[in-house]
Amino acid sequence: MRAFNRNLGTLILGLLTIDSWVLMPAAHASEESVDQATKAALALDAKPKHRRSLYSAQCVSCHGRAGFGDRSRSIPALAGQRFAYIVRQLANFSGDERENDTMHHVVSRRDVHATQSWADIAAYVSRMPGNPAAETGDGSHLALGRGIFHEQCSSCHQADAGGDHDGLVPALKGQHYSYLVGQLHQLAADRRHNVDQDLQRFLHSFDEQEIEGVADYLSRQHALGKSHQVMRENGTVVN
Ligand code: HEC
Ligand code: HEC
Repeated sequence: MRAFNRNLGTLILGLLTIDSWVLMPAAHASEESVDQATKAALALDAKPKHRRSLYSAQCVSCHGRAGFGDRSRSIPALAGQRFAYIVRQLANFSGDERENDTMHHVVSRRDVHATQSWADIAAYVSRMPGNPAAETGDGSHLALGRGIFHEQCSSCHQADAGGDHDGLVPALKGQHYSYLVGQLHQLAADRRHNVDQDLQRFLHSFDEQEIEGVADYLSRQHALGKSHQVMRENGTVVN
């Protein structure tokens, strides 16, 4: 676990400390180019005027005007999700590091393809208030799920499940139950490729009851509030 945290920390620092970025030996070329695209997008200034219209034109039909997703189609909520995490997932979809035909098609569109668009849209949706009424599970393993989350997951995802401030660890609160269950299976089965192998093995160790319990618990954590910019000690402001 310690080695794993250190690796993750290196990646996060590497992605965020733009000037001192040193390319780590990547497992294969695509992972490397996705990391570079993420880094490039995170270094851009998001353009406020462009944000809403781009989101309305390209994303609303599935993720909804308020960014709450669609429970019946397992489409995730994006409202209040962390800026850098959203950028990284758009990079992952565009580099086929994350499997999903629908999102592959979306990120290949002319207006979405550019890293500037990723920064613009991510800045917009990360500031939308989170979903207060996500789809939940049936409540049968809630206590188990709460215990697991606070013992095994909150060290990275934070006690309020809001994700980490520097962003590569996602918020999980206000997210739909069936989407969370689906992604826990995807991560455990190594179908999200640009993810630390230790995290994949760790999530693989949970059984079905535990997965359902933790997803149910998370889906009930109300996502009031939204992500804000963070001012660092040195005075720089990050999304
Ligand atoms: C035609 C429907 C559709 C459209 C349009 C669409 N998405 Fe998605 N999006 C999905 C689906 C389905 C998923 C879940 C993918 C999966 O299961 O891995 C998803 C997943 C995502 C994720 C990953 C969220 C997470 O929690 O990891 C992000 C980020 C995202 N979409 C952003 C966008 C943006 C930005 C746009 C507009 C430029 C957009 N999507 C347009 C259907 C859509
Ligand atoms: C060491 C840090 C760490 C720990 C511990 C951890 N996670 Fe994560 N988790 C991450 C990171 C980083 C990602 C983003 C992976 C990516 O970039 O695709 C993630 C992604 C996820 C996602 C996908 C979210 C989405 O929107 O698609 C879910 C669900 C999740 N974690 C649940 C859990 C649960 C449940 C636990 C505890 C059993 C847990 N995680 C423990 C770091 C961690």
